[in-house]
Amino acid sequence: MKILVTGGAGFIGSHTVIKLIESGHDVTIVDNLCNANPKVLDRIQQLTGVAPDFARVDIRDREGLTAVCEQAAAESGPFDACIHFAGLKAVGESVAKPWEYYDNNIAGTLTLLDVLRTHGCKSIIFSSSATVYGDPEIIPITEECPKGHCTNPYGQTKSMLEEIMMDMQKADPEWNVVLLRYFNPIGAHPSGLIGEDPNGIPNNLMPYITQVAVGKLKELGVFGDDYNTPDGTGVRDYIHVEDLAEGHVKAIQAIEAGCGLAIYNLGTGTGYSVLDVVKAFEKATGVKIPYSIKPRRAGDIAACYSDPAKAKRELGWKARFGIEDMCRDAWNWQSKNPNGYGE
Ligand code: NAD
Ligand code: UD1
Repeated sequence: MKILVTGGAGFIGSHTVIKLIESGHDVTIVDNLCNANPKVLDRIQQLTGVAPDFARVDIRDREGLTAVCEQAAAESGPFDACIHFAGLKAVGESVAKPWEYYDNNIAGTLTLLDVLRTHGCKSIIFSSSATVYGDPEIIPITEECPKGHCTNPYGQTKSMLEEIMMDMQKADPEWNVVLLRYFNPIGAHPSGLIGEDPNGIPNNLMPYITQVAVGKLKELGVFGDDYNTPDGTGVRDYIHVEDLAEGHVKAIQAIEAGCGLAIYNLGTGTGYSVLDVVKAFEKATGVKIPYSIKPRRAGDIAACYSDPAKAKRELGWKARFGIEDMCRDAWNWQSKNPNGYGE
């Protein structure tokens, strides 16, 4: 298939682009590089032997996107599908800059959807998040669980964009819309050539741990040990980014089969606490992670993990990697690239 990947230079996008190329797909990346380094494109070529087409375009830029679609059409016909990763994703920043998040994520996606449909592409896979469930009443979370209250603009954009795409698909059943609700993606490509490269001090657990391990940060702060969980620390469903990438290849197959609207959780189904992750990291890497208990982080929930049965049943997808694999690969990336893609 001929696939447009927005945000394809980012963390999950770059891993997915590699799997798509390895599966024989023809990939064009659109990314404005606001949270990515162009070096990732060289690494993709190094790993696959293929340099994917790349355009430095913002998804809010209608002319830029139109030019990409027109060039693709002139060369070998319209895109068959779009995998839409492009978006801003920092929860705290979204609280401080709501307009920027609504503009980038919502206005950007509306422009993208319109340009796609006017250029003969009505199939999209969207990067949604477990955050749309809010504080879930029942865990493990199935896709039938009602969506919850999102406590921040980032989460609101995911939830609203799901609604927008569902409405469009209902009005025009020619659309195939696959909403993938990711749980907590971590890890890196086993080569250590690509991985997560957050700006500044990481907000998320695994990049924080790897930066403590590499000596850039002193100790991990564990946000709360008084939750109603086995050891009192927050429980999440961590998923290897390689498994997540594979989930997109399966979702492309569903689109090829004309799936209409489809919603899937992508998680392992197993929850690990913050201290479980620290222990797994130490076991997998032999590196000790000093930590201290800090107050709870605003907006955090006690526990969140998926029931991934629907993706297994309908997509034939199941996560293969465990928590120690995720820790090993995250560390392999960080230790080989202490400053990420920077010098
Ligand atoms: P990322 O920041 O590494 O990748 C996003 C990419 O989109 C970046 O390369 C960035 O430069 C690009 N981008 C942002 N705004 C753009 C715009 N207006 N035009 C063009 N490009 C733009 O993030 P990621 O972790 O790879 O996440 C990918 C997607 O998955 C995001 O939509 C994110 O919200 C979603 N998601 C991520 C997680 C996670 O934990 N990483 C969890 C759930 C959902
Ligand atoms: C966060 C976002 C979520 C987003 C996801 C992926 C919040 C409230 N939620 O999920 O919307 O989709 O990232 O980007 O920000 N922790 C520590 N110390 C740290 C960092 C984290 O103890 O330095 C704990 C957290 O309290 C939590 C767990 O580790 O219990 C995982 O945190 P994190 O990696 O930030 O992911 P989420 O909060 O699940």
